[in-house]
Amino acid sequence: MTNENKLYEGKAKIVWATENPDEVAQQFKDDATAFDGKKKGQIAHKGVRNARISAILFRLLEENGIATQLVDQIFEDTLLCKKLQMYPVEVVVRNYAAGSICKRLGFEEGARMKQPLLEFFLKDDSLGDPLVTDAHIEELELVSAEERDEIKRLALEINAILSEFFADRGVMLVDFKLEFGKDSAGNIVLGDEISPDTCRFWDASTKKKLDKDRFRRDLGDVEAAYEEMLKRVETK
Ligand code: TMP
Ligand code: ASP
Repeated sequence: MTNENKLYEGKAKIVWATENPDEVAQQFKDDATAFDGKKKGQIAHKGVRNARISAILFRLLEENGIATQLVDQIFEDTLLCKKLQMYPVEVVVRNYAAGSICKRLGFEEGARMKQPLLEFFLKDDSLGDPLVTDAHIEELELVSAEERDEIKRLALEINAILSEFFADRGVMLVDFKLEFGKDSAGNIVLGDEISPDTCRFWDASTKKKLDKDRFRRDLGDVEAAYEEMLKRVETK
């Protein structure tokens, strides 16, 4: 892969063009950022571990009838993916309170939601990725009403599949973020990644955090948490 094939470099991934105009290669980086890029660092082996974790989870979802952009894992740190036109929103599903919902609404960390709680955020670092309501989504024409309902349905279905998968591996799926896009045929497809960068994972018995919160909050043992999550995800 040479530089002229580089389509886009984000905070955690590089997107490369491939010979197939309908496919891109997503290379996962060791770089880590938090707080809209204000905190920067590196997490050793994160690229390889997140690529593997994401590939396994996307395959699990495919097996359960969810369309994802994953085509194949082509290098240790690189996934071949269907090209999508991404929606400008992030979808967060929360099973337990943590992170921004505690700051915004005063939930105690770890409080169980009565039912999975879904939130949309606008993808715009310059605005700090603000929460957007259905009314905001309509006013800004971010996603059509039908697509928004379908995205909500898919996100909750994904939550059910992943929550069970992680519970079987001694992990609480506290919350996670998804990004969806549209493929060339107009289907809504899951894109981006699912990894300890984009989820909160707590060990079910000790409640130890096994995700990027260890980096965000300087809790130490960051690499070990990613290594442990890869091990759990690889458990049959
Ligand atoms: P939050 O509590 O900060 O709103 O985060 C909710 C979930 O979304 C958490 O699992 C981390 C993930 N997330 C991302 O993947 N990217 C982001 O930019 C942010 C802010 C959160
Ligand atoms: N990835 C986001 C950033 O760099 C935030 C986060 O994951 O906390 O700002």
